[in-house]
Amino acid sequence: MLLGINIDHIAVLREARKVDDPNLLEAALLCQNFCDQITIHVREDRRHTNEKDLEQIIKFCKTQVNLECANNDEIINLACKFKPNRVTLVPEKRQELTTEGGLVLNDDLKYTIEKLKNNDIEISLFIDPNEESVKKAKILNADFIELHTGKYANIYNALYTNILKTPYKINEFDLNKNILKNMLNEEIQKLKQSAILANDLNLKVAAGHGLNYKNVKNIVNIKEIIELNIGQSIIAKSVFIGLKDAILQMKELIKR
Ligand code: PXP
Repeated sequence: MLLGINIDHIAVLREARKVDDPNLLEAALLCQNFCDQITIHVREDRRHTNEKDLEQIIKFCKTQVNLECANNDEIINLACKFKPNRVTLVPEKRQELTTEGGLVLNDDLKYTIEKLKNNDIEISLFIDPNEESVKKAKILNADFIELHTGKYANIYNALYTNILKTPYKINEFDLNKNILKNMLNEEIQKLKQSAILANDLNLKVAAGHGLNYKNVKNIVNIKEIIELNIGQSIIAKSVFIGLKDAILQMKELIKR
């Protein structure tokens, strides 16, 4: 199974002090030796990465680069200028801490997708795992879908970690264990059925968001998913054991 590393979290640390440390290109050059793709999300508000990061990473990395971005003219023009291998279109809200849900797939995306394809850029759409979104992604002529695993990860964490006893609990998932178990199975089934449908429609399938060393196994078991994009958990572990070992541990877990 392929692994893309989302290195925005390293840029978050850099921006905390507004100094070029840790250097994002250095991180990308290190990661590329142990993974299959470097992912960065250039947000409209540039809260972590920016166009200079995008330019340098594309110029100097030998591995494939996946740019996550909103359907925003300015960023799409940057993509056409610097030409990452793939653009993953994601929804973006100014107040959110991270990408909270899948894209609403409407016909406004058609023009953007055509423009990116004319620039020889592969298109992925970050969607919630449901039949309607997968079918619409096909109609919109995407190459890839990336299934949003955030809800799965939140339920898993509520069920199998102590997060509900911490200030980071999400009230929506503060439920009894039997209910959570049913919800978890339901979410895994949604991810699986969406991946099977996408496969039947000749869409390549990635998945990501909230995946970590504990919860990743159920997603690895969905054989139609060929790639995972993971950021937070790998970068968090790297603080303790270093980036190389943090990536290699994840690679081991997602081996099929
Ligand atoms: N995939 C997409 C489309 C994302 O927006 C993100 C978060 O930026 C990720 C994967 C990685 O999520 P996490 O950092 O929770 O692993």
